[in-house]
Amino acid sequence: MSASHLPQRVKVVEVGPRDGLQNEKQPVPTDVKIALVDRLSAAGFANVEATSFVSPKWVPQMADGAEVMAGITRRPGTVYSVLTPNMRGFEGAVAAKADEVVIFCAASEAFSQRNINCSIEESITRFEPVARAAKDAGLRLRGSISCALGCPYQGEVPVASVVDVVKRLAALGCDEIDIADTIGVGTPARTREVMEACAKVFPIERLSGHFHDTYGQATANIYAALLSGISIFHSSVAGLGGCPYAKGATGNVATEDVLYLLQGLGIETGVDLDAVVRTGDYISQAIGRPNASRVGRAMLAKMKDAATAA
Ligand code: HMG
Ligand code: MG
Repeated sequence: MSASHLPQRVKVVEVGPRDGLQNEKQPVPTDVKIALVDRLSAAGFANVEATSFVSPKWVPQMADGAEVMAGITRRPGTVYSVLTPNMRGFEGAVAAKADEVVIFCAASEAFSQRNINCSIEESITRFEPVARAAKDAGLRLRGSISCALGCPYQGEVPVASVVDVVKRLAALGCDEIDIADTIGVGTPARTREVMEACAKVFPIERLSGHFHDTYGQATANIYAALLSGISIFHSSVAGLGGCPYAKGATGNVATEDVLYLLQGLGIETGVDLDAVVRTGDYISQAIGRPNASRVGRAMLAKMKDAATAA
């Protein structure tokens, strides 16, 4: 592992409205989703993953993607991303004026079958027209690699499998590639090994870390990835989420926890932590879930104390 210095600035991609909410069993009202996206862009995120244009048979919660995109207030400077598994999804994304489309595949064959109903090879072939169309339309293209640090069905995922998928997504013209620990099993040493292997085949400044916190390793993994030179991270406000195709997987690492970590390291993000904490409180109450962010809970308690004392 190569030692490195920490980046001065990090891009935090807020994925709560998509990755966070997609797994909610009860339908979340469209106006709540719109309010969530708007609060997040107002908090200063340069990139919000707003929704998916996937099959509603597979992920019913994302069936109102077009309405969400039509209802949000666009903040200049914020990139609104959506997931597009095929041309039908891409067409929905274009009609909804998304700024970035996300194609998603896995480093594990078993997970690919469960998540998108085809092999890794087939998924890449399926994404070719989507990638071409995105480039022709001048849209940003992001590729997300699930199960890069472990798979619920096959267990160990070889580093070489992740690197192979990075190369394929790079060949499709992805502007950014996400290394995703879908089930949150990764540890810091493995994180560095995978990130550094991927950085040999794709520019490190366009690689991102997408960590879930199932085993409580996510902030440690982010710190490890920072040391390897990664400067883009995904997180979900209030730690919303889970994965419909990965039983027992908890949400993404909470945005509040990531921002607190980065703030403590003196790394700029351009995001207002207090505003994110209030947004975490809003969405947790709106969907009737406990707030899964430790930083969020601690800061809310302090805010309440300060309000009582005033
Ligand atoms: P399929 O069943 O193999 O394909 O699904 P299909 O073409 O037969 O489609 C089935 C039905 O869906 C058809 O309807 C299609 O028209 C319709 P029917 O004819 O039966 O009435 N359909 C669509 N409807 C709306 N929008 C579309 C669309 N496409 C088809 N775009 C497919 C294949 C890929 C479509 C399906 O498996 C799918 O949509 N999967 C999405 C799964 C998903 O969203 N998973 C969660 C996101 S990945 C993730 O969370 C991981 C990530 O966060 C990183 C990490 O943490 O690892 C990114
Ligand atoms: Mg995810």
